[in-house]
Order: sequence, then C-alpha cells, then structure tokens
Amino acid sequence: MNTLAVILAAGYGTRMKSSLPKVLHPIMGRPMVEWAVMASRTVSSLPPLVVVGHGQEDVRAVLGDQATFIEQKELLGTGHAVQQAMPAAPAMVDAVIVTYGDMPLLRGETLQALTALFAEGQGENGAAMALLTIQREDPQGFGRIVRDEAGEIQAIVEEADCTPEQKKIQELNPGIYCFDADWLRANLAKIPISPKGEYYLTDLVGIAAQQGKRILSMYAPLEEVDGINTRVHLAQATEVMRRRILERHMLAGVTIVNPDSVLIEDRVTIEADALILPGSYIQGATQIGAHAVVGPNTHIVESVIGAECRVAHSVIEQAIMEARSEIGPFGHLRKGAHLGEGVHMGNFGEVKNSYLGPGVKMGHFSYLGDAEVGPNVNIGAGTITCNYDGERKHKTRIGADVFIGSDTLLVAPLSIGEDARTGAGSVVTHDVPAGALVYGVPARLPRSRNRADDE
Ligand code: UD1
Ligand code: MG
Repeated sequence: MNTLAVILAAGYGTRMKSSLPKVLHPIMGRPMVEWAVMASRTVSSLPPLVVVGHGQEDVRAVLGDQATFIEQKELLGTGHAVQQAMPAAPAMVDAVIVTYGDMPLLRGETLQALTALFAEGQGENGAAMALLTIQREDPQGFGRIVRDEAGEIQAIVEEADCTPEQKKIQELNPGIYCFDADWLRANLAKIPISPKGEYYLTDLVGIAAQQGKRILSMYAPLEEVDGINTRVHLAQATEVMRRRILERHMLAGVTIVNPDSVLIEDRVTIEADALILPGSYIQGATQIGAHAVVGPNTHIVESVIGAECRVAHSVIEQAIMEARSEIGPFGHLRKGAHLGEGVHMGNFGEVKNSYLGPGVKMGHFSYLGDAEVGPNVNIGAGTITCNYDGERKHKTRIGADVFIGSDTLLVAPLSIGEDARTGAGSVVTHDVPAGALVYGVPARLPRSRNRADDE
C-alpha cells in the first residue's frame, strides 16, 4: 500500500500568545510539527504534504526538505485544507493519512495500527476510511461519533450542530483518519459549505455512510491525541515526551537516577551503562559514551562526552570531551573546547575554543581561551590566558609537559616550549623557549650565576 500523510498546520494558534507559529514551539528539542512528520514517516515512504498558512515562511524554513508544502491561503476548514493538498498527491498513492501539526504525542505505532486496520478492510466493498476515536467523559470541543443500532458509524457531528441527545455522546473524533485515496479524490468536492462558511473534513464520514461504504474505527490512547493549544498544553506534552525519552534510554541500558529531575532531548544519544544523575539537562545532538557519569546538576548542549568521562555540577556547550576526561564540580566548557583523553579539570575552570592534550591537569580556578595545550601539561591554580587585547583574540600555545605555576597570566599571542616552567605569579609576555624557567612580572629567564653583577 502506498500511503501518503497530509499534516494540517495552517491554523493561527492564537492561544499560544506567541510570535512563533504554534507548530514550531519545541518539545524536547524538536519543533512540534517535526514530531508529526516523524510519526508520518513510520507509515509512509513519501515526504508528507504539510498544509501551511499562518507563519508559513518559518514552517517551511524549519522543515526544509522533510516535507512538501501546500499553501492554504484562506483557512476555510479542515476539509478545505485537504482539498488544497490532494492535487499534489502522486497518482500511485492509495491511502491518505490525515494528521495535525499540533498533535506531537501521536505515535508512529498508532498510525501503523490505523493503516493496518484500513488495509484489512480493503477488498470487496472496501472501506472508504478508517479513523481513530476516543472515549472521554468530558466531550466538550470534539466532534461526536454517531453510530446506528448495528454499531456502524453514520456520521461525525460537530459540537455546534449536535442535538441535545448527540451532545451526550462520549465517543469522540480526535481528527485522525486513513482514507482510501481514490475514494477521497472522488468525494472531496462533495463536502458542503457549513453555515459558518467552512468545509468540514468530518462531513466525508456522513457522505461515505450514505453511499453504504464501510467506515472502520479503533480507539486511540487519549494522551496521544491531545492537541496543543496553550502553553499549559505545551508543558503537559513536554512532560509526556520527557518520560517517553527517558524510558527509551533506560530500556537501552542507561541508568537514570531520579528520572523526575532529568531532561534529555530527543536527539541525544547515550551508550549503555552510562549513568545519569539527578538534575541533568542534556540538549541537542549530544552524544554520551558508555560508562560516562553525568551529573548531578549538569547542563550539556550539543556536545560529545566520551566513554567513562565524568561531568559533575558543570555546564558543557558545543564541546568535546574525549574518553576518561573529567570536569567539575563547577566547570564550564564553551564552544570549541576540546579535552583530550584523560584530561582532568577541577572546580571553577573555564575553557573556550581550545584543545587540551591528553593527560592535561587543570585543577582549580583557571581560564583557557584560544589555546593549544600539549599532552601532560600542568595548569597551576588560577592560571589565565589573557587572550583578548580589547580588539582582537590571540592564541596561546603550550608545549608538551610544561608546568605552569599557580596564578600565571599568559599574555597572548604567546608560545611556551616543551618542558618549560613558569613561576607562581608570573606575568608571561614573551615566548618561552623549551626547557626554560621564567618567573616574575613581567616574566624573565633567571640571570646567569656567572654574570658580573651577581658577584
Ligand atoms: C476538528 C474536527 C473535530 C474534532 C477536533 C479534534 C473538523 C471539522 N472537526 O475540529 O471533529 O473533534 O478537530 O480536535 O475537522 N486547520 C488547517 N486549516 C483550516 C482549519 C484547520 O490547517 O482551514 C488545522 C488547524 O491548524 C488545526 C487542525 O486543522 O491543527 C484542526 O483545526 P481546528 O479548527 O482546531 O478544528 P476543530 O474545530 O477543533
Ligand atoms: Mg481544535
């Protein structure tokens, strides 16, 4: 079966009270509409048709080539939206799924079940459609599912058009359908205009029933079809998604202590036997290696944390930590920081746009910016690269096995040769040769013992 998804996302989303189109509000690291696109891809090998209107430039820019966009110039209802989309459906398509850009919790599995139900109903007097329904004590706001005595679906009646009797119906329409594509093409134009001047997609149900076509249905989990209209709903959906993501990692072998306090966005990957401690917030396409320990109280954005690393009480942004490196408590890696294997960074260290070679130790209160540090260097407590002269940034190069004494200021541009040492409190303004010791303010080489003025 060739299935195509149509995702309706042209609405205003007024109740979000936002300058950002509703369907672009992120949920666990993905814009809402991207969740709908991802779910649709579990039942369709074609990019979905996304019906856009309000804020469409932004929606197009965010989804890019993940979707084909259909402009709905006037919002004349869900039926009108699908009418705009169908001419773009390839001829070989034989089933059309309709979903919404503001329903991020709808799982691919549920769409698969709906598609499978529809497929079973093919053949002689094939079903015109299969749809999801929900059972809910409070039916307010939903179209009611009207069945005949035999239990066959006869119509969906919008709330405004319900008789008092129909108003009490608790089987409701969440608005997700799988249509027979040919039937849809042949009948879309038959939707009448409503008194409000809209074309209701739901009227197709009555049309099919009139024709004696079968309409299949299955119950959907309530949670999945809760559309998002306000930021309160946004927070609720985020919470559901947060749980789902954590469960996925736990089932894949990641230990998460106190999951209630941990947020891991959807694009994060974590290898088995990593340990995530309370208060961890991990964002973007971060990768975490096996046996790494993250947290407590740690924020990681778009970074690579190697196997067996440790990150405690720290902030890591767009940085790389190679295997067995460690940071914290209270460390900060900024964009372009790269710690080689086994680097140790203790409390109150900050590194930006710098590479620290394997085995570097930077135990306490230091800042390294725009630096290149060789292997096994010791960065004494309080060391600072003075990388900015008020106008430009300059590089600091430190060779292998260098010992930087406590409280050294390294005034860039600067190069320190292998095995060199700086004395505590030095202000180093000139390059230091390999193996040399410098100290003082400004730092100098020690005077020679043989010189006359020493005698
Ligand atoms: C619709 C259903 C109703 C169902 C309810 C579930 C119809 C006629 N009614 O009603 O049976 O119980 O959803 O939430 O379908 N949209 C467009 N273009 C439009 C109109 C809507 O893209 O011209 C999009 C909206 O952005 C939204 C979705 O379609 O994501 C649903 O539209 P909405 O106006 O909320 O439909 P309801 O009146 O709630
Ligand atoms: Mg609605």
